[in-house]
Amino acid sequence: MDVKLDNPIYKIVGEAADRLGVRAFAVGGVVRDYFLQRHCTDIDIVCVGNGIELAKATAASISPNIEVAVFKNFGTAAFHYHLGGETWQIEFVGARRESYNRNSRKPIVENGTLEDDQNRRDFTINAMAVSVNHDTFGTLLDPFGGIRDLDAGLIRTPLDPDITFSDDPLRMMRAIRFASQLGFYIQDSTFEAIQRNAERIRIVSMERITTELNKIVLSPKPSVGFKLLEKSGLLKLFFPEFCNLKGVETVEGRGHKDNFYHTLEVADHVASGSNDLWLRWAALLHDIGKPATKHYDPKLGWTFHGHEVRGSKMVKKIFTRLRLPLDNKMKYVEKLVLLHLRPIILAEDEVTDSAVRRLLFDAGDDIDDLMTLCEADITSKNEEKVRRYMKNFKIVRQKLVEIEEKDRIRNFQPPVSGEDIMRTFGIPPCREIGTIKDAIKDAILDGAIPNDRHAAWQMMLEKAAELGLEPVGNPTTNATSSQDSPADKA
Ligand code: CTP
Repeated sequence: MDVKLDNPIYKIVGEAADRLGVRAFAVGGVVRDYFLQRHCTDIDIVCVGNGIELAKATAASISPNIEVAVFKNFGTAAFHYHLGGETWQIEFVGARRESYNRNSRKPIVENGTLEDDQNRRDFTINAMAVSVNHDTFGTLLDPFGGIRDLDAGLIRTPLDPDITFSDDPLRMMRAIRFASQLGFYIQDSTFEAIQRNAERIRIVSMERITTELNKIVLSPKPSVGFKLLEKSGLLKLFFPEFCNLKGVETVEGRGHKDNFYHTLEVADHVASGSNDLWLRWAALLHDIGKPATKHYDPKLGWTFHGHEVRGSKMVKKIFTRLRLPLDNKMKYVEKLVLLHLRPIILAEDEVTDSAVRRLLFDAGDDIDDLMTLCEADITSKNEEKVRRYMKNFKIVRQKLVEIEEKDRIRNFQPPVSGEDIMRTFGIPPCREIGTIKDAIKDAILDGAIPNDRHAAWQMMLEKAAELGLEPVGNPTTNATSSQDSPADKA
């Protein structure tokens, strides 16, 4: 079978290889993605000979200005180039035979043939090569039936899977990642080998595991990958909290829902409407505090009181272990986990303006994502119940828009600042300032006063009087200036 490689780079590589008298092939992901019609900007070239020399010769024939990064220890070289408004990354390696030391990922590398190189790759769908030399340009070499497996949607190792996974245990994560990304089935004997070798994942760095985990989270249905991770025995080795969600306990004939499957349903719901990695993580972690707060009450049945608070507190430990960022992305996930019940409670009750204002205040700019998460969280099989919730969510969403328009709570800035209070009463920083500011904020959120400077100023004077504070000078001087007018800032 011939492959139509239309990126002009392949001809350039082929000509350079012909000049050097070596055979060169496009391999791995780029060939797989060609058949899957997936866009791929990372090109891997294998040459039977010196990969570094071929990289330099190719780069020189594109432009003398291209910088080639050489990794001598690995026998690889790579460069970037721009074409058609895109940046392409092209990596060259000499064909290798590898054997691995059991306790490390460091291979003992020897030069080899193309077949040796294909043998040492992870899956049949990733072991196809396409010739780029002039005489055989576009010829596909598919020794393990990669095309057949692509058609069948099958993940299978070219060699005995115990050898493939033992050589590089990260491939167990990759198998599951491809299954989740592409909706493929992992061949039974390949999957059984993952179950047998799962413990070997411990020699892989957490960063590399998480790169694959995030690809699973970003796949069309994260549940596919997470179920396989759990079944394979891998998940408990790096994410035991998630495994703990699994299972149903029954007391006096009453069971609770299985939070593992519920969480995955929520994650799939969110994934169907959003590609945001962190919103998907929030969905995965929203009930993570449930096992720790589970309680059986003979009157109420199963309760999980405070699971949102407990769950939110668990996020940092999980992010730290998984080497996920501990910055504002983590804070966002913590916040969504903490607030995930609020819109539901609102939707259960009559929706009051002040409850909506408080929700806007606490969620800020993440309010839309919080609403998305909450709607996804309704996984009841009772259609009537779902209809009622969705109707109420619609009312909540409407109210959120109306109240935000009127009161501008979403990015709440106190209309009277701590500075204002100190200046007005001639006091240094102290607890009373916080008390006055909180009273003003609560009054605005409760709808007792409008969100404007004049009303807030009056409230400040009243509250300060209650606390026994006396204004120095004329207390009304600043009351009318807008909170962010230059005069006020000066
Ligand atoms: N490979 C492998 N074992 C690994 C990683 C990679 O055998 N642990 C081989 C596979 O042949 C793979 C190729 O190296 O196709 C390129 O790997 P990489 O660029 O990491 O992944 P892709 O398969 O291209 O997939 P993606 O771009 O989706 O990460």
